[in-house]
Amino acid sequence: MNPDLERLQSYPFQKLAALLEGVQPAPGRPLIPLYIGEPRHPTPEFIKQALIEHLSGLASYPPTLGPDALRVAIARWLERRYGLTAVDPDTQVIPVNGSREALFAIGQAVLDATRPGAAVVSQNPFYQIYEGAALLAGATPYYLNNLPVNGYAFDFEQLPEAVWRRAQLVYVCSPSNPTGYVMSLADWERLFALSDRYGFVIASDECYSEIYLDEAHPPLGSLEAAQKLGRAGYPRLIMFSSLSKRSNVPGMRSGFVAGDAQILKAFLLYRTYQGCAMSPPYCMASIAAWNDEAHVVENRRLYREKFTAALDILQPVLDAYLPGGGFYLWPETPVSDTEFTRRLYATQAVSVLPGSYLGREAHGTNPGAGRVRIALVSGTAECVESARRIRAFVETL
Ligand SMILES: Cc1ncc(COP(=O)(O)O)c(C=O)c1O
Repeated sequence: MNPDLERLQSYPFQKLAALLEGVQPAPGRPLIPLYIGEPRHPTPEFIKQALIEHLSGLASYPPTLGPDALRVAIARWLERRYGLTAVDPDTQVIPVNGSREALFAIGQAVLDATRPGAAVVSQNPFYQIYEGAALLAGATPYYLNNLPVNGYAFDFEQLPEAVWRRAQLVYVCSPSNPTGYVMSLADWERLFALSDRYGFVIASDECYSEIYLDEAHPPLGSLEAAQKLGRAGYPRLIMFSSLSKRSNVPGMRSGFVAGDAQILKAFLLYRTYQGCAMSPPYCMASIAAWNDEAHVVENRRLYREKFTAALDILQPVLDAYLPGGGFYLWPETPVSDTEFTRRLYATQAVSVLPGSYLGREAHGTNPGAGRVRIALVSGTAECVESARRIRAFVETL
């Protein structure tokens, strides 16, 4: 067996199951699961319809690059959303089966473990796939802590020059899961400068880019930042996007990568062997989804409604804040995050995720410890009910 498999950590949800093992949720009312970032708003009918209409596509093998029409739809969406001048659908876009597989696969394509001390830098707390990608490619993960003292922004100075020199790949997530932090143009400028200096590839996870609360201020994207800073061709930059959260189709497994054409060329070669082409009916349903914005605006309205209602209830007792993007609350807990989670489950039948499970001990601290991640993914009534239960629980502490 590949010995690196032993280096993988158990997934946060497995750790949660172990934490709650043998604990009975408070009886008499339904359990409300808020621990997982699975969007639960209904899938728009027109997307389902497009899928059904193209079922005949099951009869053909799909090309790894997907059909031209899908890449064109994605390229035009990128231009509309980020004001990009010209995205080449042939060389700068590849459809992927959800951003998760691509975030893992990019590590396997980009990392060169034959170079001594291959390092992968990731934000902390983070989406665990980044770490698994590093470990299975034979690299060592290093962490940049995102802390409340500076509003969860990046402090690139945390890592010594020696690590940056060995860094081959850097994962960032903006809007961030779980903190909701959105990288500013200044953050990007700093990260691009480091990439120019040390030669690493930037994997920018933007799967929450369409979940934001202020219609007038969509989160800045990495390609947009690159264009604003005059970086033609997006050198060493790959963005990862997804329909899962934007269009409420987590089961469709549809997303894309876009950016540096040279890296995407190598990535396409890797993907040919990995065999991860998107099924033709899903390609057609994805085209329909990328071409429509009305359902995304409605999606955001629902999240706004839930955030407003939940924060009204929670803010008097917890330091919960409105995120720059994404659908998570990330409050500090008055007791340890694991104790909070266990007792909340036992007394109120609400499950949340301990923040320490999303972070790693680095620079003397686990920046997820003492916080919980609350995913506002259910319907408004259920989110309001869960906020009331969380408040009732906090008031007993
Ligand atoms: C930060 C982050 N990146 C990527 C993903 C993967 O999403 P998908 O594979 O559905 O695009 C998730 C899913 O929860 C996530 O939270």
